[in-house]
Amino acid sequence: MDLVKVRRSRREDIETIAWLFTETIHAVNTGDYKPDQLSAWAPRPPDIASWRERLEGETIVLVAERGLQILGFAGFTPDGHLGLLYTHARFLRQGIAAVLLRAIEDEVRCHGVDHLFAEVSVTARPFFDHAGFRLITAQTVERRGKEFINYRMEKIL
Ligand SMILES: CC(C)(COP(=O)(O)OP(=O)(O)OC[C@H]1O[C@@H](n2cnc3c(N)ncnc32)[C@H](O)[C@@H]1OP(=O)(O)O)[C@@H](O)C(=O)NCCC(=O)NCCS
Repeated sequence: MDLVKVRRSRREDIETIAWLFTETIHAVNTGDYKPDQLSAWAPRPPDIASWRERLEGETIVLVAERGLQILGFAGFTPDGHLGLLYTHARFLRQGIAAVLLRAIEDEVRCHGVDHLFAEVSVTARPFFDHAGFRLITAQTVERRGKEFINYRMEKIL
């Protein structure tokens, strides 16, 4: 099997990324959030224009790819805020998120930043625990009129 490579996202990846995000949430987060929460978090179809705006702002987006297929992606800012981390539902538990996280850690270290900060879904919490993040606090956030529990977590690099 080909190796997984991590690279910066390109303009033409935006639709793939938006759909990967949407499909992952509706397939993977179902045990932890209610259907109306999932629809508010990841409306179907995704709004590609707003994704373009988001991903062309200050967020740096990395994709993990095997051959020509994007298996996961992550978005972060150079100050160490990890805002997006998603692995396609068909490729979970293959180390995709771990590879992306390592690449992010390397990049933020290059910017002289010594910590990562994330707001982590209930579903993603075991990954972040395993990756060495510590819980700061549980919190309720609002997205498109729905409330969600998530966790503020940090990792000292
Ligand atoms: C969180 C997420 C990105 C992890 O992606 P992944 O590519 O499957 O993670 P990895 O394969 O790199 O996992 C590395 C290790 O983390 C731990 N881990 C990951 N997912 C886990 C789970 N669901 N339960 C328990 N441990 C888990 C394991 O120790 C795993 O190593 P192992 O498979 O050898 O046991 C993925 O589950 C996902 O996209 N979830 C839905 C979207 C989401 O909530 N994203 C986060 C938004 S804040």
